[in-house]
Amino acid sequence: MTPRTWQLLRQLADGEFHSGEALGRQLGISRASVHNALAGVAGVQLQRIRGRGYRLAEPWHFLDGDEIGRCLGADAARFQIEILQQAASSNTELMRRAGAPCGTVLAVELQTGGRGRIGRVWHSGLGNALTFSLLWRFDCGLNALSGLSLAVGVAIFRALEKFNAAGVGLKWPNDILAPGGKLGGVLIEAQGDMYGPSTVVIGIGINCSLPLMIARAIDQPAAALNQVCAAPPTRNPLLAALLQELARVLDEFAIAGFAPFCREWERYHAQQDMPIQLKMPDGSCVQGIARGVTDAGELRLETAQGIRQFNSGEVGVAS
Ligand code: BTN
Repeated sequence: MTPRTWQLLRQLADGEFHSGEALGRQLGISRASVHNALAGVAGVQLQRIRGRGYRLAEPWHFLDGDEIGRCLGADAARFQIEILQQAASSNTELMRRAGAPCGTVLAVELQTGGRGRIGRVWHSGLGNALTFSLLWRFDCGLNALSGLSLAVGVAIFRALEKFNAAGVGLKWPNDILAPGGKLGGVLIEAQGDMYGPSTVVIGIGINCSLPLMIARAIDQPAAALNQVCAAPPTRNPLLAALLQELARVLDEFAIAGFAPFCREWERYHAQQDMPIQLKMPDGSCVQGIARGVTDAGELRLETAQGIRQFNSGEVGVAS
């Protein structure tokens, strides 16, 4: 997207109609140039109605470092936050900057190549999702990081609780579920060696609303924050709350690993004590009753052969 397109989108942020002429006047360009700059902008749901002009399908509260900083208060000192207008993936970008200080945050307005777990795609459009990555360093090696992704799920749950999100739960290992489907996901990528210091990039995507364009692209039931919060937060206070909870959880994780979060994770577990099916990487399936997680974050499944523990697989509903 060109800088001109971004300027125009900012003028359209209120979600009201703006005529091509008025938009052009503000930027000192012709109506035809406005039209060209707004033609077929990927990831942006834009309406154009003859005689009325252009408007965004819903208002866009853009990410704002100052507002995020104010919401963070004293915790602001722990983070270096950068907002990118557009990037393929905040995780890819932050992994490229792996030498950056602990606490570096990249939040992206429009992620065009969002990546999910197991090679999946994470779909989001302009303003409808919070998509960001946080770089964190641990003194321990990669082998001590098992359970980190579940601990991150606990931090996200705690942050969403602050906004009274109703009916939210966690699915092993770290999906955020709401009654209508998946509300958010976590992609953790790490650098380092098994025993030395390690660097992780924690990528989080949360659906704030689900415009049709995005809902159609997602291949599984999905949900958004505006369906579960009576007063949904905008993305700036949401990001600040997530970072605050992440810092608390990651500090504790660095000292004691996942064990202190184990029982809390189980309280948030949407499928606790329910029959589930675990699809293994080799395509085979294991059925059982979900009996929580181990201190290392493995899924405990009560099967016909007794309790078994798993550190990989995709959880589905038992058939
Ligand atoms: C999943 O549930 O499969 C994980 C989804 C993670 C998506 C987030 S959005 C911000 C960060 N950048 C990415 O490319 N992916 C993560």
